Amino acid sequence: MHTPILVLETPMNDYSHASRGRILPGSFLAAAAAVFMPAAMFAGVTIHFAGDSDVGEGGRWTKVVAQEWAQKTGNTLDYISRPNDASATLQLFQQYWAAKSGDVDVYMIDVIWQGIAAAHAADLKKYVKDDEIKDYFPRIIENNTVKGKLVSLPLYTDAGVLYYRTDLMEKYGYKEPPKTWEELAEMAKKIQDGERQAGHPDFQGFVFEGKASESVTCNAIEWVYSYGGGTIIDPDRKVTINNPNAIKALEEAKSWVGTISPQGVVSYGEEEARNIWQAGNAAFMRNWPYAYALGQDPKSVISGKFAATVLPKGGADGKNAACLGGWQLMVSAYSKNADAAADLVRFLCSAEVQKKRAVDLSELPTRPAVYKDPDVLAKNPWFANAVDILNNAIARPSTVTGADYNQVSTVFFQSVNKVLTGGETAPQAVSDVERVAKRIVK
Ligand code: GLC
Repeated sequence: MHTPILVLETPMNDYSHASRGRILPGSFLAAAAAVFMPAAMFAGVTIHFAGDSDVGEGGRWTKVVAQEWAQKTGNTLDYISRPNDASATLQLFQQYWAAKSGDVDVYMIDVIWQGIAAAHAADLKKYVKDDEIKDYFPRIIENNTVKGKLVSLPLYTDAGVLYYRTDLMEKYGYKEPPKTWEELAEMAKKIQDGERQAGHPDFQGFVFEGKASESVTCNAIEWVYSYGGGTIIDPDRKVTINNPNAIKALEEAKSWVGTISPQGVVSYGEEEARNIWQAGNAAFMRNWPYAYALGQDPKSVISGKFAATVLPKGGADGKNAACLGGWQLMVSAYSKNADAAADLVRFLCSAEVQKKRAVDLSELPTRPAVYKDPDVLAKNPWFANAVDILNNAIARPSTVTGADYNQVSTVFFQSVNKVLTGGETAPQAVSDVERVAKRIVK
């Protein structure tokens, strides 16, 4: 057992103060760490942090900010870039956890892995005061609390959104983005045909994430829910996926492949979809908020030419559905430097750093107060509606399945992917998912 150097009586670094309505402007990071960090506290240790893939902007950014923390606190930061795919990341992390490895101190974990990670996590309630915990969205804190243990602190949250090209909407005579998936398919086809005729042979109507991984689980749960087909397993453990609305939703999605979406969409993750979109080669895209800042970068060819809105409903009687995503920071139960690790976690989740993350990366804060910040809203005007979208966002069935969530998601994403590739019909797919899911929640 590891004995903490820092006991609760020791004053914690005040990363919580800005959440009380005082968010520091501009370049605050150095100041925040230097002013609030009692010198020499935990100095001299190396923190191994498995964060976002540094192939992407989010990972590169996080690495720099984490290194600033290390510099100011006199510690060393070893950044371990995770794979650029949630399911592959889980596989990797599970190897460390199975070995009870102390090689990683801080893990960036998905919102759906709390039940899987719980046994391998330090209880963050030991390191974060109650009144600091209160500054986060209660729904996420509740999600991240497993049998009374605070498994992780919310770093950023996510919700699926529809991106659309405002310039092309105007060019093709559309006043509003599509309200239903059927409307989206129609508009996407018309724009795609027109753009191809105008000399853009690679132009696509709609790109999304169809890859057999957690990526398509998120997309498909949105389709299914939007048609009134539920969320695979409902919160009281009833397996609901085998129903006509879910079948209809999957059949609708299948009809996009090779018509308004490229055949290759069946192997696209978020970045594959975004690359096509950001090159100016798609009318619509389903993705997460991070694609907003990248697309609006002044160097981007689509800068100023697109907007983000709610995903369409499944038919006129359907519902708007945004899958709830997001990433959290967890301190390993096997860390030899849990105090310093927890300090890094609190720093990265602080209001100051979340503000900077929202401004630079358009990733959604997990502290409601940050949404009111004028700089955040100036950079992301659509964040004004984000709290509403988040409150209504649909959770994957990870609380009800706990440590078994990945088995349910795996059969779901494999089956959905087979529907998209034509390897299986939608009725077969939902019946396969039902069979496995029933075995898991029985
Ligand atoms: C995003 C979401 C995460 C989800 C993943 C799937 O990163 O935040 O919750 O599991 O996408 O690819």
